Amino acid sequence: MGILIRHGEIVTALERTRADVYIQDGRIVAIGEKLDAHPGDTVIDATGQLVFPGGIDVHTHLDMPFMGAFSTDDFETGTIAAAIGGTTGVIDFVMPERGEPLMSALDTWHKKARGKAAFDYAFHMAVTHYSEAVGAELPKVVEAGITSFKTFMAYKGAIGIDDEGLFAVMRKTRDLGALVTVHAENAEVIDTYVKELVAEGKVHPRYHALSRPAAAEAEATHRAIALANIADRSVYIVHLTCDEALHHVQHAQAHGHPVMAETCPQYLLLDDSRYEEPDFGGAKYVMSPPLRKPKDNEALWKALAQGAIQTVATDHCPFNFAVEKQKGRDNFAKIPNGAPGIENRLGLLYTYGVLPGRISLQRFVEIFATNPAKIFGLYPRKGTIAVGCDADLVVFDPTIKGRISAKTHHQRVDYNPFEGFETVGAPTHVLVNGRVVVEGGKFVGEPGSGRYLSRTPLTAGQKQAVLAGV
Ligand code: URP
Ligand code: ZN
Ligand code: ZN
Repeated sequence: MGILIRHGEIVTALERTRADVYIQDGRIVAIGEKLDAHPGDTVIDATGQLVFPGGIDVHTHLDMPFMGAFSTDDFETGTIAAAIGGTTGVIDFVMPERGEPLMSALDTWHKKARGKAAFDYAFHMAVTHYSEAVGAELPKVVEAGITSFKTFMAYKGAIGIDDEGLFAVMRKTRDLGALVTVHAENAEVIDTYVKELVAEGKVHPRYHALSRPAAAEAEATHRAIALANIADRSVYIVHLTCDEALHHVQHAQAHGHPVMAETCPQYLLLDDSRYEEPDFGGAKYVMSPPLRKPKDNEALWKALAQGAIQTVATDHCPFNFAVEKQKGRDNFAKIPNGAPGIENRLGLLYTYGVLPGRISLQRFVEIFATNPAKIFGLYPRKGTIAVGCDADLVVFDPTIKGRISAKTHHQRVDYNPFEGFETVGAPTHVLVNGRVVVEGGKFVGEPGSGRYLSRTPLTAGQKQAVLAGV
């Protein structure tokens, strides 16, 4: 039995076409005008609607132990919320504990995801400590289908690694064809400021932002790019937040260096005035890097439109305000860092990016689905709409109006940083591997049906095409 999506407008990064899409056995098998339905097929009437490839969120932390707490969405609740919001694939971070072998942590993450995820998923491997033994494990990680590594220049003494470790990861993964991604903030600066501020009794959430200035992110971004250049590597900067750091990315790109960057809706739409919310409300926005200034929001939108930033992910890392965030009531440095967002990426990008003309509809598809798939080795199986692709699709009604609220969202967390934001447009149907999993805003799929996506390194040609095309 197939599914026919009829009368919609298909939007990919390359084109907009009025055509029907026919799906069978999990894949798109035909695209064309006036396709016929067969007896027993499901027909979705997409008149007046847009059909996008399902979104891919390449930066999530599901069920992750961090700063004495666990992120509150697991692979079931997190992927269900994501699917309702039009995302049909995630790449989550495997986070080894200090001293734990990488492959043991991978085993833990497989157990977290298997039987729970509502759509397909892949993993990045975080290198949270570096040693010869870790170096020796890197090829095994790639063989296990993980072709991207994550390094944290921040979080000194916890999950962060120093320059020696970062440089070693960059060099050791070069022959493996794996991509290195970097959380870029200067750990020493942050550590110094945190100690000083806390000693002075400056413990309000606003000091989280003051302890991690934009210049500390810019410095680390510059250093990560410089180390990548020395190691003759490409590098992907995660959750870039500010004009100063962006400047280094643009400078490198202008000189032909293969540098890519991601940002997140919170850095496009929120600013550091949020830290002044009363009653410890600023803790809701304690994430790293912190929220910046309105001028940074605007610089990031421009960079997205112009191509300097290639992806928008969420860095979904939810902690309840009433529970986990309270750990830092007397000390901002103890507030678990992170905020939710996995459900709202499409709604926010469409409403605040496409509708006011900050980005085109096709650029939206590119940063939401296509570039994430290309950069991280899932393309063309995922991230676009073409015959032979997995049928991960969003049928989107651009007229549905909504308002984001923790009262109605599906993320397992007691607040939403975008509370009260109006949205225009929403998915009426979301398909995962050829099955309808969301209908009319309700999840109707099967948790646990998601599969692990084992990735292979890009060939030299594919890599060149990615860097030229994103
Ligand atoms: O504050 C954040 N971003 N928490 C999650 C860990 C990270 O740095 O990505
Ligand atoms: Zn980070
Ligand atoms: Zn993160």
